[in-house]
Amino acid sequence: MREAAALLAQARRIVVFTGAGVSAESGVPTFRDALTGLWRSFDAQRLATPEAFREDPALVWGWYEWRRATVRRARPNAGHVAVAAIEARLPGAVVVTQNVDDLHERAGSVAPIHLHGSLFAPRCSACSHPAPTPDEAAEEPGDGRRVPPPRCARCAGPVRPGVVWFGEALPTAALEAAVEAASTCDLLVTVGTSGLVYPAAEIPQVAARFGAAVLQVNPQETPLDAVSDVNLRGPAAQVLPALVHAAWGADPA
Ligand code: APR
Repeated sequence: MREAAALLAQARRIVVFTGAGVSAESGVPTFRDALTGLWRSFDAQRLATPEAFREDPALVWGWYEWRRATVRRARPNAGHVAVAAIEARLPGAVVVTQNVDDLHERAGSVAPIHLHGSLFAPRCSACSHPAPTPDEAAEEPGDGRRVPPPRCARCAGPVRPGVVWFGEALPTAALEAAVEAASTCDLLVTVGTSGLVYPAAEIPQVAARFGAAVLQVNPQETPLDAVSDVNLRGPAAQVLPALVHAAWGADPA
């Protein structure tokens, strides 16, 4: 922790790069966690595809309704709060996330870059016209349900979740901004990602290639160990507040 705290205390231009693990302690399942209920016989990688949506739009839309309800019930944890504290302390700090939840924003992060879209930005699958986020269902069954997607107000096409599915390109502006931040930072902190999904997993490697220090927070080993100067093995909601405290003596509140 001492080495990591020194890296944070010295940093001037920081990128915090997060994955599903930062929201795990808020009760939001990660992607490598087995699916439950209606989707227990599917894996996320098969459901999160344009093909799955074409084949069974109600199954896929239902899955995202269930995920959106799970996120709405969730609260940001001490890990999200610590990320916002780092941002508040270091002007110009950039948060880049693969997560489609809004827990960074609810913890006070200003404008995290969402590389994989958002659960709260549905659009038409035919004409891309933005669609309103449906009101939360009175009771979202824990085991999930099939829900036919709403229709587009402009072309009546089926509305799809505003997330990046496997096989789809990342939003250009978000990816460019993330690469720009990683190539000009002096410290990148990667938190709760398996580093398996590209091109997002390239971001910590860009930072290392351009000479920045890389600090990883993850209870498990990942391929990002190879580019990390320091690995803090532990859950984000415990490690990040301790890191902020060790670096600046302040408790992220
Ligand atoms: N604190 C920190 N890390 C954690 C915690 C925790 N409490 N719990 C789990 N982790 C780690 C796991 O060890 C794992 O390495 O978080 C990582 C989660 O990995 P994934 O589920 O693969 O999530 P992520 O890396 O964000 O996935 C990338 O894949 O499925 C797609 O688009 C989806 O954005 C997602 C992308």
